[in-house]
Amino acid sequence: LFVEFNYKKIKTQIDFSLNLEQGSLFWEELVKKSLPILIVIENSLISHFQDPILQALSPHKEPVFLLSLPGGEGVKTEENKQKIERFLFEKGFGKNSCLLGVGGGALLDLVGFTASTYARGIFLAFLPTTLLSMVDACLGGKTAINAFNIKNFLGSFYPASKILISLDFLQTLPFSHKKSALAEVIKHGVIFDEELLHFLQKNKALWLKEDPEFLTTMIEKSLMIKKSIVEKDPQEEGLRRILNFGHTMGHAIEAFFSYKISHGEAVSIGMLLEAHISMQMGFLPEKDLSTLYALWKDFGFEKKPWLFTYQDLLPYLLFDKKNTKKVPKFVIVSSLGNVDTCDGAYCTEAKEETMQEAIHWFQKRDL
Ligand SMILES: NC(=O)c1ccc[n+]([C@@H]2O[C@H](COP(=O)([O-])OP(=O)(O)OC[C@H]3O[C@@H](n4cnc5c(N)ncnc54)[C@H](O)[C@@H]3O)[C@@H](O)[C@H]2O)c1
Repeated sequence: LFVEFNYKKIKTQIDFSLNLEQGSLFWEELVKKSLPILIVIENSLISHFQDPILQALSPHKEPVFLLSLPGGEGVKTEENKQKIERFLFEKGFGKNSCLLGVGGGALLDLVGFTASTYARGIFLAFLPTTLLSMVDACLGGKTAINAFNIKNFLGSFYPASKILISLDFLQTLPFSHKKSALAEVIKHGVIFDEELLHFLQKNKALWLKEDPEFLTTMIEKSLMIKKSIVEKDPQEEGLRRILNFGHTMGHAIEAFFSYKISHGEAVSIGMLLEAHISMQMGFLPEKDLSTLYALWKDFGFEKKPWLFTYQDLLPYLLFDKKNTKKVPKFVIVSSLGNVDTCDGAYCTEAKEETMQEAIHWFQKRDL
């Protein structure tokens, strides 16, 4: 299975395979490219995955190098970008070379950014290894590192040309990480495709069993939605903002709980709050909010122990990390699977009482 995604003259091709070794089209084409390759892989993945990757690349004529880095948010630094660049330079990599990122969304963001600036852009390929990076982060061309204490402050738009989604990687991933990624899948359903929500609801048992066929279809559906959105608005001038649904409240919740809550869980709560705001503003029917709430509960998202008030979130809603006052804006859902365009802005401000009422509603619900 593959989808083709054209953007900024770079065509992203995504292959799916149950086993790493069977991603033959991906490997064949990478080998055919005959470019020197630097694989940047997370330390913790080496023991399980280095050998099959090197095996798959063994017919490759050009040299293949490997550089390992830690995984997780801490990897997105200028130092690590320089480390990759220095490695590339010292090994004689020029314009015609390839960077292959093997890791979660954080490592892919770093590798993508490095590929976009090294020799003004080199061939980029991804093996996403977390569910979140499979359903979301690998596609769309946003690359970034954190700098000056600000998340994703330095970055570029630079899509990977080739992506291989292999469920092999998920075997070592804790279920809690998978659940966190599910929040982003639900988000894709809420903003773009109600059918995806029905698909999840219908197949909850397969989700709990981590059924490979179910996961493949879920990842595919999620990527197709992201593709439809980012193709229309690659640089987030309008429509792409809808991917931020649930994130205004979600980021404030993450910050209030000092990042002890996972990003996905925070976004899952953020979605409910922003859906409630959409309802209060007269867009979302109450029955759709109830459906979303039921799905949220069904898939094991919980209110406890995340208790907070509007006053708790306010500083994080009003004050962004760039030290400028900001007015929180929300993506408005008009029905499950549809957003309001807000006159082309795809987000809008909400009154203080509206935000307050949404939080009050969420906190008073019995679970
Ligand atoms: N570029 C985009 O469009 C985009 C979209 C969404 C998120 N992101 C970025 O992605 C990052 C979050 O990505 P993430 O959720 O994948 O988390 P992550 O990359 O931070 O990884 C989470 C943890 O999982 C570990 N890990 C990776 N693969 C594993 C595996 N197969 N088995 C076991 N452990 C594994 C990592 O080492 C790390 O400790 C954030 O930095 C976010 O900004 C980018």
